[in-house]
Order: sequence, then C-alpha cells, then structure tokens
Amino acid sequence: MERPNWVSAEIDLERPSGARVCDYFLGGAHNFAVDRELAEIVSRMTPDIGDAMRANRAFLRRAVRFMGDQGIHQFLDLGSGIPTLGNVHEVAQRADPAARVVYVDVDPVAVSHSRMILDGDPRTAVVQADAREVESVLAAPETRRLLDLEQPVGVLILGLLHFIPDADDPAGIVKRLREAVCSGSFIALANVTHEDQPPEVIEAQKLSNQIDTPICLRSRSELLEQFDGLSLVDPGLVHIPLWRPDSPLYVDERPERFGVLGGVGRKDPEENRNGTAL
Ligand SMILES: C[S@@+](CC[C@H](N)C(=O)[O-])C[C@H]1O[C@@H](n2cnc3c(N)ncnc32)[C@H](O)[C@@H]1O
Repeated sequence: MERPNWVSAEIDLERPSGARVCDYFLGGAHNFAVDRELAEIVSRMTPDIGDAMRANRAFLRRAVRFMGDQGIHQFLDLGSGIPTLGNVHEVAQRADPAARVVYVDVDPVAVSHSRMILDGDPRTAVVQADAREVESVLAAPETRRLLDLEQPVGVLILGLLHFIPDADDPAGIVKRLREAVCSGSFIALANVTHEDQPPEVIEAQKLSNQIDTPICLRSRSELLEQFDGLSLVDPGLVHIPLWRPDSPLYVDERPERFGVLGGVGRKDPEENRNGTAL
C-alpha cells in the first residue's frame, strides 16, 4: 500500500492499530486496508461492535455534559483516539466557551490528526504519551499550561483500560489519577466486558492479538475496582446506554448488546468519602 502523506515513516502500514480500527467503525477516514480488514472480520463475528463504539461516543458526550453541569471547566481525555464528531472540547465548549481540554493518546495517527484539527485553539492541546505513565502525562508542558490541578478536573478514560493488561495494573492508573486531582473532580470510565455476552464476543476478542495492544474483557467486579476511592454517581456502573440517557426513548432495547460498562465517579473530600449520591 502506498503511504498517504499524513502517515509518518514510523507507522507500520501492515499492522492494524486499535485507534484506526475504532476510527473505521466510527466512519472516519484515518485508517488503512489492514485496519478495515480486521474491523470487517470482527464485525462479521460481533455485528454490534460498530453500534457499541457509537454508543460509547454518546456516553462520552453525556458524561462531559454532566461534568460541565457540575461546574467542571477543564478536562483530561486519556486514550482520546482519532477525533470524530462530538469531541470533548466541542461538547465542553458549547456549555462553557472557556473550557480547557488536554487530549492524550499513544497512537501517532491519533495525535497528528488531533493536532491538525485543534491547531489554533489555545484552550486545547494534545500530548503523545502512554497513559500508563500518569506522572509524565501530568508533567507534560501542555497539561501544566492548560490544567490547574488545584481546581476540579473531569478525567475521561473511555475505551482505554481494556488495552491495558492486568500486569500493568489498570486500577492503579486510575488510583494515581484520583490522587493527583483535587476533591470535586470526576472520573468517567467505560470498558468492554464479557458479562452478559455471547461466546462470539470471546472469540472475536482473540483476534485483537493482531493489534499492538490486545483487548482485555473484564467482569463487573473487576471494573468496579477501578472506581475504588470514588463515589459512583447515579446510576452507577451500567451498560452505557443506561447511563443518564437524554431520553428513555433513546435507550436501546437490549443495552447489554454493546458489551460496554460505564460509569462516573466523584472524588469527595476526605471527610465525606462515599457520601451523598448525585
Ligand atoms: C477505542 S479508542 C477510544 C477512543 C475514545 N476514548 C472513545 O472512547 O471513543 C482507544 C484509544 O486508546 C489509545 N491507547 C491504547 N493504549 C494506550 C496507552 N497505553 N496510552 C494512551 N493511549 C492508548 C489508542 O491509541 C486508541 O486511540
């Protein structure tokens, strides 16, 4: 395949990437034949996967709007992906034009395309970093310029931690972020699960060995561990269409078919941990 001009030499055109497969499912143009082939195979095995990715973006938008309503004006989006419609800064800045957003991704295509789209917006920045290195993410000049950690932050970790194996302690990553932000901050999480899923989902998961970062399906109780030390806001950790839907009419008849559990946790002041529900 010929290398498009937006693809740097370091990118292997023969190996699919999670970010570009996701872009393909969301209708984006920043993916290669190898990504589309893998996406098509997975989609034949689990036809709901494209809908699941769109439902995840809808959850992202609702979570950002919710956080904005709670007075959050700055956001850290980890594993932000290749920009599509309804990105965090678009949703946040609709509510508050001064809202600030730092996007973080390890994938060079996601980072270069994000930089192109955000060029000229001084309230947004993109950091190319591995989210496992929380301290480097927080110490990056762009993060320090845009985010004031003395003020509440909205942290978004959607569709990311299932790329992090148990050996790299995904719950520990959330814990380090929770410790770095001040009380009043929120952390939104969404992860794929094997709970309530048919056997084809487990088979399709095995195909993810073809990408750099295979996908880990997790149980509800494993995912709840990621919220340790946070107060889960209503309705808790749920199949994502059930999380504060814009209208009951928009909730899918079988919300579990997406195979993604999501929720939002709030960091309460020390004396009020696990206090009032929102
Ligand atoms: C499925 S996409 C999710 C994009 C977006 N957050 C969403 O919910 O639609 C996952 C993104 O996580 C990124 N990613 C995977 N492992 C990562 C890591 N260790 N550090 C930073 N980003 C990572 C991938 O490059 C990809 O862009």
